[in-house]
Amino acid sequence: MKFFIDTANIEQIKEAQDLGVLDGVTTNPSLMAKEGITGEENIMQHYIDICEIVTGDVSAEVIATDFKGIITEGERLASLHKRIVVKVPMIKDGIKALKYFSDKGTKTNCTLVFSPGQALLAAKAGATYVSPFLGRLDDINQDGILLIEQIVKIYHIYNFKTQVLAASIRSPLHIVRCAEAGAHVATCPLAAILDLLKHPLTDSGLAKFLSDYKKGQQTQAAV
Ligand code: G3P
Repeated sequence: MKFFIDTANIEQIKEAQDLGVLDGVTTNPSLMAKEGITGEENIMQHYIDICEIVTGDVSAEVIATDFKGIITEGERLASLHKRIVVKVPMIKDGIKALKYFSDKGTKTNCTLVFSPGQALLAAKAGATYVSPFLGRLDDINQDGILLIEQIVKIYHIYNFKTQVLAASIRSPLHIVRCAEAGAHVATCPLAAILDLLKHPLTDSGLAKFLSDYKKGQQTQAAV
């Protein structure tokens, strides 16, 4: 399973890249605004800056919601850098745009997916990635992981090439459940990736190894 980081924060992207396990980045207009990145030129430059840090795909989301606007904006985004993936919302004109980009060989990520039917449409339109938002489903008392499982199953039955990019991940348990469900990618906040490291028995085991090593060194020095 690929690990993407879901942020527009340059420091966090660098930290995840330095860890050596990062396969890409996803952003959205809310994440860009959170970093204070406003104005078209600044936003475009920020995407280029992100692309230059990582070695994998970087999703950049269109703001337009009409076919023509999505195409114009998507083509501009795609021309910024070879790593850019055009992120398109799950709406009627979005589906048409996914098909357009797919025919042209431009990579896409269909975002705001909340049902298996939406994921089926995105795959039919040739999306490179589909982004089901599991945390937001959990927030309204629906089973987000079940949706990931359903989409993975449907794509497998029909051999769709679209990759399931599990999004809106909130915890390390979400990441593990996505891996069990067969998601191709999990896009996560940095904290959730780092939380995968944690186990109390790792901490206590390491403390004991180090203290036993120290005791051994002291015994040797005393002889
Ligand atoms: O990038 C889309 C998605 O991951 C949003 O996550 O936490 O805002 O539901 P969240």
